[in-house]
Amino acid sequence: MKIKDSVIVITGGASGIGKIMGRLALEKGAKAIAVWDINQTNLDAVVSEHSSLGKVKGYVVNVADYNAVKTAYEQTVKDLGAVDILINNAGVVTTNNTFDKNTPADIERTITINTIAPMYVAQVMLPDMIERKKGHICNIASAAGLLAVPKMSVYTASKWATMGWSDSVWIELKEMKSPVKITTFAPYFINTGMFDGVKSWFFPILDPEKTAKRVIRAIEKNTRFKGVPFAFRFARLMQGLMPMRMTDWVFGEVFGIYHAMDNFRGRKN
Ligand SMILES: NC(=O)c1ccc[n+]([C@@H]2O[C@H](COP(=O)([O-])OP(=O)(O)OC[C@H]3O[C@@H](n4cnc5c(N)ncnc54)[C@H](O)[C@@H]3O)[C@@H](O)[C@H]2O)c1
Repeated sequence: MKIKDSVIVITGGASGIGKIMGRLALEKGAKAIAVWDINQTNLDAVVSEHSSLGKVKGYVVNVADYNAVKTAYEQTVKDLGAVDILINNAGVVTTNNTFDKNTPADIERTITINTIAPMYVAQVMLPDMIERKKGHICNIASAAGLLAVPKMSVYTASKWATMGWSDSVWIELKEMKSPVKITTFAPYFINTGMFDGVKSWFFPILDPEKTAKRVIRAIEKNTRFKGVPFAFRFARLMQGLMPMRMTDWVFGEVFGIYHAMDNFRGRKN
């Protein structure tokens, strides 16, 4: 799907890779971008920073609230025209506690924002995309959606669910011969602040700018699944081929993934 002349909605676009993707899309000639975010202060800053590059509009939306999503969609279409591309990017990580110490609020917030909200947003936009025979939805999952990761079990669960849902919809659209496409994007840790404090000694923590560029490229190429770094494409193959104890040793001790969250601080707010 080409970025040029497209109307693009980016959820969680007021920070991190979402903010960078908005800038990249405008630089590539997007007709307009709609930044949907819950953080009014960051949203105002992003709109003012990006407005010299093209048409950008900010919407304060809690994507975990279905009615708010519906209202924001109707307003976006009224303001900017039909939506061509949705990047489901908003996400949270709440704690590095082991699961027994997660609160019901931690669990609900993580699953609602990371798993249910992308479904809500896609669900309000997809029928119009199917009818127009035009559209692309990119769901930002995580490499944690391919692995078991201690001290982020609920986040991991939220991203496994997103991956399964996202790729299932890809198949549904193919079976109905719709030209609308889905990209499932699964990056390793990215240096945006969301996972501040994590340690990774085997795989380097990803650069936000380069990662955002990879998302945009994946959308342009209609890529079905993109794992970053490339080695993560083989995660499930390795899990299938190796005995469980060896899988734990490779991912846990060699790659160090089981200890990555030990010193997690995350965002302050
Ligand atoms: N940073 C990483 O290491 C990493 C790794 C893998 C996957 N991801 C995923 O990439 C995506 C972007 O991550 P990032 O690092 O840029 O994060 P970030 O924290 O910089 O940005 C997330 C944005 O989502 C917004 N948001 C949170 N809850 C919201 C809600 N209910 N409604 C609307 N907006 C909301 C926040 O205000 C923020 O602007 C997330 O889905 C994240 O899970 C991040």
